[in-house]
Amino acid sequence: MMAENLLQKIKVRKLKFDDLNAIVEIDHRILGTKRPTYWHQKFEETGGEEPSKSLVAELDGKIEGFIIGTVSGWEFGVPNTIGWIDTIGVNPDYQKKGIATFLFQAIMEEFKKDGIENIYALVKWEDWDLMSFFKAVGFTKGNIINLEYKIR
Ligand SMILES: CC(C)(COP(=O)(O)OP(=O)(O)OC[C@H]1O[C@@H](n2cnc3c(N)ncnc32)[C@H](O)[C@@H]1OP(=O)(O)O)[C@@H](O)C(=O)NCCC(=O)NCCS
Repeated sequence: MMAENLLQKIKVRKLKFDDLNAIVEIDHRILGTKRPTYWHQKFEETGGEEPSKSLVAELDGKIEGFIIGTVSGWEFGVPNTIGWIDTIGVNPDYQKKGIATFLFQAIMEEFKKDGIENIYALVKWEDWDLMSFFKAVGFTKGNIINLEYKIR
């Protein structure tokens, strides 16, 4: 019930370059480390411009969640009818209230507009919150396998 009220107050909009600090802050809250350089690079690659599909969720004008999405340019030999969820993060104070689901549904609509037929995401199997979330919104195991060669 409370979560429903909260979702009514959430505003989803496209990610802007100005959102960099807010995203760095949420990432910091989630991981415990601050990664401004990493996020700056990611913003340069995907921020704002097409084919980025990235969105943020605002509550009372403050960003509490984000989803970074791109449209595939044949990475891994997959066609450009694939949308990728690169990263998703919700402020720990606002998790488990449906914000990530809301963001996912919104990005799915954006992908649909582009004729995207499939959405891929890469998740470490031990990232249980992410794994559970993707399962909850309907993802299943795909057919790309992560190969690894240990040099040492
Ligand atoms: C995964 C994540 C995005 C989920 O966000 P959220 O807004 O809390 O997700 P929702 O409230 O929409 O959850 C939808 C469903 O996903 C599942 N789920 C979400 N978080 C979960 C968790 N921590 N444990 C188990 N299941 C979870 C549940 O089935 C949930 O439904 P329910 O609340 O009815 O049980 C959030 O936990 C997060 O940001 N985690 C860190 C992700 C990360 O490391 N990102 C990279 C760095 S930014």
